Amino acid sequence: MRVEVTFTPAGLSQAEVHGRVVFVIDILRATTVMCAAMSHGAKAIIPVSSTEEALRLAQTLGSTDVLLAGERNCTRIPGFHLGNSPLEMTESAVRGKTIILTTTNGTSALLACHTATVYPAAAANLSLAAERGREALEGDQSILIVCAGRNGDFALDDAYCAGRLTAAIFGSTKPRHELNDAGLASLDLVRRYGDRWERPLAYSRSGRELVKLGFRADVRDAARLDGYPVLAQFHERRVTLVPVHA
Ligand code: MLT
Repeated sequence: MRVEVTFTPAGLSQAEVHGRVVFVIDILRATTVMCAAMSHGAKAIIPVSSTEEALRLAQTLGSTDVLLAGERNCTRIPGFHLGNSPLEMTESAVRGKTIILTTTNGTSALLACHTATVYPAAAANLSLAAERGREALEGDQSILIVCAGRNGDFALDDAYCAGRLTAAIFGSTKPRHELNDAGLASLDLVRRYGDRWERPLAYSRSGRELVKLGFRADVRDAARLDGYPVLAQFHERRVTLVPVHA
């Protein structure tokens, strides 16, 4: 298969990841947050899996240019500078800063793929991610699209985004024989919901939860196509901007 989608990172082996162009999607909200922060001038994002690890790393780095960010149960971790909202990643908050980020699903999905070069993807950077995907296919590399999912389970918001990315990578060609079944199912979601990001995002469990907790504006922000148009890569433990070719 030239393009494979997986609805959760559970059970991914490094052998499956290695040597492939990998996109990780946690549209609500970790990968949208990464796009927002990088587009507003953050120097780097270091994803870590636990609050303790984030605190330890902040102490080791020991600089005033380091920010702690993240959530548990969608709300900011006590004592951290920032939560996990793209709207918090303003230029004045993040420019020049290194952000240590820990979230429930998104950062662990990235960490699960650490042996490959991984691109965080969302609606926010869909066109650039798709361009990178097309380049990969032209260069005969295979693509893996990893949905962060929700607590080890399928998440409608991420799966729809995977379908949009797949459709955008293939353009108008019919990719049926190039896709695994999860990829085909993600394309079916695109047929079902069309190009209106708001619907699958708002219908998803994560979307409903966020609205309940007062983050309706985040769901809207995450639904903006190419709202934070940057391509960043997770490589050697850090997310940094992909240098733009001249
Ligand atoms: C996650 O990593 O699970 C999500 O980004 C959670 C959230 O948006 O609060």
